[in-house]
Amino acid sequence: MKIELPVERFAGIRTPFYYYDTNILRQTLDAINTETQKHDNYFVHYAVKANANLKVLHIIREAGLGIDCVSGGEIEQVLKAGFSASKIVFAGVGKSDWEIELGLDKDIFCFNVESIPELEVINEIAARKGKVATICFRINPDVGAHTHAHITTGLAENKFGIAMEDMEKVIHLAQDMKNVQFKGLHFHIGSQILEMDDFIALAHRINELQDRLEAQGIQLEIINVGGGLGIDYEDPQANPIPNFKDYFAVYAEHLKVRPRQTVHFELGRAVVAQCGALITKVNYVKQASVKQFAIVDAGFTDLIRPALYGAHHRIVNLNSQASEEKYDVVGPICESSDTFDKDILLPKTHRGDLLAILSAGAYGEIMASCYNCRPLPQGYTSEELD
Ligand code: LLP
Repeated sequence: MKIELPVERFAGIRTPFYYYDTNILRQTLDAINTETQKHDNYFVHYAVKANANLKVLHIIREAGLGIDCVSGGEIEQVLKAGFSASKIVFAGVGKSDWEIELGLDKDIFCFNVESIPELEVINEIAARKGKVATICFRINPDVGAHTHAHITTGLAENKFGIAMEDMEKVIHLAQDMKNVQFKGLHFHIGSQILEMDDFIALAHRINELQDRLEAQGIQLEIINVGGGLGIDYEDPQANPIPNFKDYFAVYAEHLKVRPRQTVHFELGRAVVAQCGALITKVNYVKQASVKQFAIVDAGFTDLIRPALYGAHHRIVNLNSQASEEKYDVVGPICESSDTFDKDILLPKTHRGDLLAILSAGAYGEIMASCYNCRPLPQGYTSEELD
């Protein structure tokens, strides 16, 4: 299986644009379903923050996944894409009242609650509406993840979730409220995690917490382990499908699941990253004193990950097979951070060549901005261009 980049079909499309190889997306979803179908209590909620393109969402919905939302806008978008509200989990440290109201009006599956003040507000709004909100508490498990500091979330110092020592207190508070129903615990330790040991550490921590709660007569129906499985940014063509086998096996082996309990996963990046590429045109090749620049028409407004996280995406030239030279691939925005990569080898590159910036399906199109009044990039699927 290879990521297809059919350059002949890109002619006439305004660059930069996102291209989604739906074969890769479907194979990825099949790989997920193959693993989760081994367990009748595993449910994957796609983290729509990674990519909310409607065409991509339709394919994910067809594969039967649920959804993880972090805003009212995401809830609206996934409902538009035809997802059932009964499969939506809603997380986020700072839910606004209108977002809570929307979740209640639509009868979403579960609110992942991150603080006592939020719990009180959900209870109050639900009471006003004569509803009972299903809730899980997001617990900060103080488990570090071997990933970028900006995307690790499970340490005590992070703003996310409720501290483990407060767990019983918040559960008792919820149990005394009339308009919330406490169902379980939610966790998330970070993103782009490739070390299975990090997920093993989380599973062990959940076991400890669960034992502690059971000793006090508190049962959990839902365990939500969050997302975070990483992908191969260095060699996407060699590994277009993430290692779901090992990922789900970690939880099957290490998480002690009780009878009738359901286990929920919130995978984002691993679902959509490899199917997407940002296609950009080389506007100029500039020879400077110590560098050669390929100046492309995409900027950090189209793909911010390299500028924001120092993230690395493989770049390929779709038009040239000439012998390789060294380039810095940079965008047109007047900021030095508008650089996709430095000193990389590309076949000799010319004005008009199309470059593909790979592994850009997750946190690419969705994080685009209009800085410099630049138009937002469009996204096309391979099926549309057939
Ligand atoms: N669940 C929660 C509560 C989350 O905060 C996140 C991601 C996910 C699930 C999905 O994580 P994933 O499976 O995609 O790793 N913009 C950054 C990534 C931010 C991730 C934020 N939270 C990037 O481009 O790398």
